[in-house]
Amino acid sequence: ALSPWPHGIDRTTDLKTLRAALAQQAVASGQKVKPADIDRAARAALAGQEIEHTLAALAATGAIAHYVQLDLSDTATLASAINAIQSQHGAITGLVHGAGVLADRLAMEKTEAEVRKVFGPKIDGLLALLGAITMSQLTHIGLFSSASALFGNMGQADYAMANESLNQLARQLHAQLPHAQVKSFNWGPWDGGMVDAGLAAHFAQQGIALINQADGARIFADQLLDGDRTLVELLVGDEWSGE
Ligand SMILES: NC(=O)c1ccc[n+]([C@@H]2O[C@H](COP(=O)([O-])OP(=O)(O)OC[C@H]3O[C@@H](n4cnc5c(N)ncnc54)[C@H](OP(=O)(O)O)[C@@H]3O)[C@@H](O)[C@H]2O)c1
Repeated sequence: ALSPWPHGIDRTTDLKTLRAALAQQAVASGQKVKPADIDRAARAALAGQEIEHTLAALAATGAIAHYVQLDLSDTATLASAINAIQSQHGAITGLVHGAGVLADRLAMEKTEAEVRKVFGPKIDGLLALLGAITMSQLTHIGLFSSASALFGNMGQADYAMANESLNQLARQLHAQLPHAQVKSFNWGPWDGGMVDAGLAAHFAQQGIALINQADGARIFADQLLDGDRTLVELLVGDEWSGE
């Protein structure tokens, strides 16, 4: 189920405001809560709210949308969810893969478990999805890779490798499915999602501006629907002139 909106707090789309309200609520009720827990709860509530809005906006256009939550590493649940969708709605023709996890730490200090955590949702996750879907019927595949695959980023050796592996998979899919639009978006940092205040400050220090969410969404849709089919890997920063 989606994370419900916290009781007694006004709706907002602002993470900072929601974190402050949750912290105030915890203090008022005498609870001892760690800032990381407050941050997690605020992000989950905002994500739930955003999904509700998206489903409502889709329904308003007359589209039928179902939201299914599952862990990509649970291949049995994934296969039964995909089977249910295919038998209810017919062939799956579009696949967007955006799952990803960060576990930033200098390469020499990284544990195998951290590297697996980063590779898992990206590579095993995509392969699990492709294994569950009837691949030959796919006409559109959009993958969320990262500019770190091309330029690297401090503490993100595993993340950079996982994203470059995603790019390689995209090229392989393009060769296997020549009729399909396959795009691997190597995004620069977005204003939101896994870019928290610390990462945003790190990019600001390097003079790298964040991608505005509306612009990123528009570029994604334009390129996946109407982009040049011969271009598989796109590098997208805040100053996009690709259209
Ligand atoms: N934000 C950026 O600036 C940026 C830049 C370049 C590339 N990207 C890529 O874009 C994608 C989305 O990033 P984001 O900023 O939106 O990150 P985010 O807010 O952290 O979202 C990542 C999503 O991946 C899901 N996920 C992780 N492991 C999963 C698993 N095993 N099974 C199913 N879902 C799983 C998470 O689900 P839960 O919330 O349920 O854990 C979450 O919804 C990622 O692949 C990221 O690498 C992002």
